[in-house]
Amino acid sequence: MQKYILALDQGTTSSRAIVFDHYGLPVASSQQEYPQHFPQPGWVEHDALDIWHSQLACARDALKQAGIDAAQVAAIGIANQRETTVLWDRATGEPVARAIVWQDRRTAGLCDQLREQGRAADIQQRTGLEVDAYFSATKLQWLLEHVPGVRERAERGELAFGTVDSWLVYRLCGRHVTDASNASRTMLFNIHTLGWDDELLGLFDIPASLLPDLVASAEVVGLAAPEWFGGAIPIAGIAGDQQAATFGQACHRKGLVKNTYGTGCFMLMHAGDTPPRSHNRLLSTVGWSIGGATDYLLEGSVFMGGATVQWLRDGLGIIRQSSDVEPLALSVPDSGGVMLVPAFTGLGAPHWDQYARGAIVGMTRGTTAAHIARAAVEAIAYQSAELLVAMQKDADCSVTEIRADGGAARNDLLMQFQADLLGVPVARPHVIETTALGAAYLAGLAVGYWESRDDIARQWRTERRYEPMMDAGRRQELMARWARAVEHAKGWAGD
Ligand code: G3P
Repeated sequence: MQKYILALDQGTTSSRAIVFDHYGLPVASSQQEYPQHFPQPGWVEHDALDIWHSQLACARDALKQAGIDAAQVAAIGIANQRETTVLWDRATGEPVARAIVWQDRRTAGLCDQLREQGRAADIQQRTGLEVDAYFSATKLQWLLEHVPGVRERAERGELAFGTVDSWLVYRLCGRHVTDASNASRTMLFNIHTLGWDDELLGLFDIPASLLPDLVASAEVVGLAAPEWFGGAIPIAGIAGDQQAATFGQACHRKGLVKNTYGTGCFMLMHAGDTPPRSHNRLLSTVGWSIGGATDYLLEGSVFMGGATVQWLRDGLGIIRQSSDVEPLALSVPDSGGVMLVPAFTGLGAPHWDQYARGAIVGMTRGTTAAHIARAAVEAIAYQSAELLVAMQKDADCSVTEIRADGGAARNDLLMQFQADLLGVPVARPHVIETTALGAAYLAGLAVGYWESRDDIARQWRTERRYEPMMDAGRRQELMARWARAVEHAKGWAGD
């Protein structure tokens, strides 16, 4: 009987499930958007039950479309939006509040206080992270302080905290676990000792009883209960979505880089088997822990990537669907001098400005929707180019290629402009769903579906390669203009 791997890719705006075969090729997939809640400016919430129900529905649908049953699934792998903070009741499995999403800025003030108290360097040393509202620690602290009764219940050991991986595993099989790639995004995890950090738990006033147990990224952690898929299936792979994508892009060796164009943009470089130290405001993060060995990555995170196009659709209403952006942007030869800085939820790496807000500069009477659309697409590439500049300064090796994935990597205009701005070729692989693929690979390795990482690396193939065509002078001129535009966006909400 032929077997498959079921990958769950729980993202910020949609849940997805993909069935992969032994060649690492998708056999069937299913996707469902779910509601986003913006209760106040700068706040972003999800109902954790929406996450669970949409993810379960997709997984069932993907199996149905593939025409297979639980007995034909060798394992489940999970990749998830990271940092998003879920708090639930251990007895009932019900969330005690809405999940606070990674993009949420409500704890910016708490982060300012930490910086003012001179804590940033120590936190960076322990966790590899910049002090920012992006990460889970201050979100969990906020829930404990603001949701009535929650602190007392937490202290009685009645509640569980987790990122979305923990939440899904809990619902699927009742275990409360996470892997080091997800834990390393909480700001409560020490990337050197690979354990929860007591100092930080004290600093953020987090009861240790809330925390999940740590498991490997590739390991059977439990069986999804038969009620979900009509038969038990081992849950064997867990990783944060960006680390999973790095694994799926076969960036298994030091110096290999991928950039995912999803809701945000996340550029990650393999940094070897010891935690790297960034001097250019990048993050040092766990890639995956497998069989007792841990790989580390350098990461540049940009909060608004493909979501900028979503804003053109839902906020500005100048396109009807995301795929309309490319023809609209291509209807003009360039952005006509317009620059759009999509700092809607602040700026991530390398600026880390929690109070930056979106800006459009350089408009004239001749500016049209097409120029704005072009500027929005180009903004995705400018932000990623800044990440590579920082990465090349930090790394002791040169980057010869960027492996691109995520929905917006289908946009040829964006990919060519990206290669032009980077001055480095951009390679788009055959399977663009590398986040789900990475989760599938991790799960498949754990159950012997694939033998080794070499096996996996052999499956990676380029579909199209974009060579840089812009001369260096023009590139520098554009990057300098971008830097000026970014200055307009900085500090805006803090005034
Ligand atoms: O750190 C946030 C990231 O994990 C979100 O990923 O794919 O939902 O944009 P995505």
